[in-house]
Amino acid sequence: MTKTIVNSWNEWDPLRHVIVGRADDGHIPPEEPALDAKVPEDSDMRGEWGRRPQETIDRANELLDNFASLLEKRGVRVDRPTPIDHSKPVTTPDFHTESQFGCMPPRDVLLTVGSEMLEATMSYRCRWFEYLNYRPLMQRYFDEDPNFRHESAPKPRLTDADYHPDYLSEEIGVAKRLQWAEEKFFVTTEEEPLFDAADVLRFGRDLVVQHGFTTNLKGIEWLRRHFPDHRVHTVNFPGDPYPIHIDATFTPLRPGLILNNPQRRLPDDQRKMYEDNDWQIVDAAQPAHNTPPPLCYSSTWLSMNVLVLDPKTVCVEKSEVYQAEQMDKLGMEVVEVELRDAYAFGGGLHCCTADVYREGTCEDYFP
Ligand code: ARG
Repeated sequence: MTKTIVNSWNEWDPLRHVIVGRADDGHIPPEEPALDAKVPEDSDMRGEWGRRPQETIDRANELLDNFASLLEKRGVRVDRPTPIDHSKPVTTPDFHTESQFGCMPPRDVLLTVGSEMLEATMSYRCRWFEYLNYRPLMQRYFDEDPNFRHESAPKPRLTDADYHPDYLSEEIGVAKRLQWAEEKFFVTTEEEPLFDAADVLRFGRDLVVQHGFTTNLKGIEWLRRHFPDHRVHTVNFPGDPYPIHIDATFTPLRPGLILNNPQRRLPDDQRKMYEDNDWQIVDAAQPAHNTPPPLCYSSTWLSMNVLVLDPKTVCVEKSEVYQAEQMDKLGMEVVEVELRDAYAFGGGLHCCTADVYREGTCEDYFP
């Protein structure tokens, strides 16, 4: 059979085929350097680990299944991962951890650029084998699509040399974290290339990559060499004390329009390429909630973690009324999707998906 299965160059062209994660067997992993740095001092997750309560897994799966059927009803083909046993420990010659994470969210692991799907290095030990959840799909795409390029970035060693010990103290505090973020001093060192796929946004010829906890400068350099036909831009959002994954911070909606988290504004000296090409960067609406749901790693800014179905249509979480209202004012048709009870498994509507096919080709939006 010869047909194109995999093709996606940006975050907004009409979506035709997507992967939606599953909450099955989701775990809160035991302590490890990169993960500890991410958990706020006042979080209900400090010191907790083990399999997540079954009723939360069931509820999250119900919401993810509903999201998948909603997408299917709109003509989007949906694939689901095949969960591996996440209770199994991971041991390599370099590290050991007692459990894994889950098969949520796929956006963190898989980066689709054109006809390629690239498995990220990841930067948490508990997520080292997460790509295995998606291998059955990768094998199928490989068999069915003669142009599909299945790639895997070099597996990192993740020894202690990958993490700054300063980040491992019990009480760092938000003020110190913000100062470190400003200085671009993050938990990961420059020992070896590290990146999570969700630190990358695709704008056709341009890839915008957040330097933070989960992606280091060597990881960005690796991406630059791996995608020689792209321009790769490094961005920072100094207002974020826990900079992990760009998609609750900077959200392109269509050519010319990006939502930016007002607490994590893109610094002026990184705005030139957008301004020179008449792109607007607008502050996202406030989240509808004051706190994240229980046992959740993410902030309330999952409000802006939307999934764009096409340049006029966007999925917004059902309770995020201010975000929906803003979308409406920006001329987008809003599709409400209930997902908040699945946030704890790793994120919102953009996170819990990974692109397989969007219409369109590789365009240059910043000539
Ligand atoms: N760090 C973000 C926040 O808490 C959450 C990003 C989640 N994104 C993801 N792809 N898992 O605001």
